[in-house]
Amino acid sequence: MLQKIIILDFGSQTTQLIGRRVRELDTFCEILPYNKFPKDDPSVIGVILSGSPYSVHDPEAFKVDLSQFVGRLPVLGICYGAQYIAQTLGGMVEKTDSREYGRAHLETIDLSNALFKGFDSGSQVWMSHGDTITAIPKGFQVIGSTKDVINAAFWCPGEKIVNSNSSNCKSVWAVQFHPEVYHTLQGMQLLKNFVVDICGSRQNWSASSFVDTTVQELKAQLGQDRVILGLSGGVDSSVAAVLLNKAIGKRLTCIFVDHGMLRKNEFQQVMHDYQDLGLNVIGVDASAKFFSDLAGVTDPEQKRKIIGRDFVEVFNAEAKKIVNSKSSDSKCRWLAQGTIYPDRIESLNITGKVIKSHHNVGGLPKEMNLQLCEPLKWLFKDEVRRVGRQLQMPEHLIERHPFPGPGLAVRILGDITPEKVQILQEADDIFIRSLRQYADVDGTPLYNKVWQAGAILLSTVRSVGVMGDERTYEHPVALRAVTSTDAMTADWAHLPYDFLAKVSNEIINKVRGVNRVCYDISSKPPATIEWE
Ligand code: XMP
Repeated sequence: MLQKIIILDFGSQTTQLIGRRVRELDTFCEILPYNKFPKDDPSVIGVILSGSPYSVHDPEAFKVDLSQFVGRLPVLGICYGAQYIAQTLGGMVEKTDSREYGRAHLETIDLSNALFKGFDSGSQVWMSHGDTITAIPKGFQVIGSTKDVINAAFWCPGEKIVNSNSSNCKSVWAVQFHPEVYHTLQGMQLLKNFVVDICGSRQNWSASSFVDTTVQELKAQLGQDRVILGLSGGVDSSVAAVLLNKAIGKRLTCIFVDHGMLRKNEFQQVMHDYQDLGLNVIGVDASAKFFSDLAGVTDPEQKRKIIGRDFVEVFNAEAKKIVNSKSSDSKCRWLAQGTIYPDRIESLNITGKVIKSHHNVGGLPKEMNLQLCEPLKWLFKDEVRRVGRQLQMPEHLIERHPFPGPGLAVRILGDITPEKVQILQEADDIFIRSLRQYADVDGTPLYNKVWQAGAILLSTVRSVGVMGDERTYEHPVALRAVTSTDAMTADWAHLPYDFLAKVSNEIINKVRGVNRVCYDISSKPPATIEWE
């Protein structure tokens, strides 16, 4: 049976990181809002309470009924989670002068406690808290202290849990520091001690077990139904398609819309890749419609809106044909999407702040009556890539940089014409091909060192140049390459000068209409990755 750790989210910025760390221990976990602990789920083997932006004394602080799991399952409270346990079970949390931010060291530590197995005394931990736990509840014992915080780690052995009448009561641990962050040097060891030794994870959550169980589940869920999936050429929708194809074969129909603003030859190449993978794909060349609707439009938001609207229209028209098709006995009841876990965590963010809006296929007409199928909804991006490798998908599909839904339209300033798209495609192609060819000092292609890269046509700008003896008056191209882990923040990639010189030369020599190349050295924030 699948085992899982539940992480109750009290709104900390590092909650997602706790989830990542648990998955790195090959253990499945779910991050749930603090008040959504699942009742009667026998697969839960342990509970972690996250940090929070609130103090336990704030009137709006998130509260949870600990009796749902304390004593029944091993529990680990982190930061606010530790303070909440202390406060709720009879200890005391106060605002004092001994707040700690940043590095600290566990000067006393109970190395015999299971949570600290393998720890070194004086181990560095990362603190970030205003309130301090000044008294721990009855039955608890201190197992770690820093110079300023006596109750930095404490536990209550199962048999001492108050009101417990079970002989097999599980223990509770609480740490004031953040084991999930990199600066807690033995944080991963602590989480391993909790997840593996204390909760008993068999560590069998892997790409291969995910593929096996998901394929079985999809078969059971979908029966003989047919499914439609929108492909974008990106890694998430491609992996979702290959998984579904493994489960239901030709009953999956994929739709890949060409809006005319993809990269050079991308539509043909990706269609070819999909056919090689055995997918049943309908490629729709709708570029004429997009170009005609975009003619003369210069406002970036307006351009995005038109592309979004046209995309839904074209996709729906194709989807309708499949839903209404009489050629088969089985009915099309499902729309599959490549939604992944971070997309959902962001939308579920319990503090109510929208971090980023998402761009999945939306607005299918109600009368089509399709249910959503999201086979990757529990995976992080690197796990999606691991699943892709497990499915033996080609590496160039798996390692692909993200690419915006509106494509090159948000990389051409001003109005869009097929000619401008073609100029940009040529420049972009030289840049991307060179990134793949040119290796960094450690031998890794520059393409794999950056999160995302592309060229931007500054078509509202003209500059004077000289080629041969001729004066030119043409457009500059900007090159953009960024490093990032999640696209929320990004730094400009420090690409080698000789590489940039080579790309600039090649673009100016080969791409008609471009006489100048610039490199974008803005970070996000305050800039964004895309120009529009
Ligand atoms: P920004 O420009 O907001 O982009 O820093 C962050 C990431 O999102 C991608 N992006 C989009 N993806 N539809 C998409 O599917 C869009 O409208 C869109 N706009 C930006 C961008 O390429 C980067 O990876």
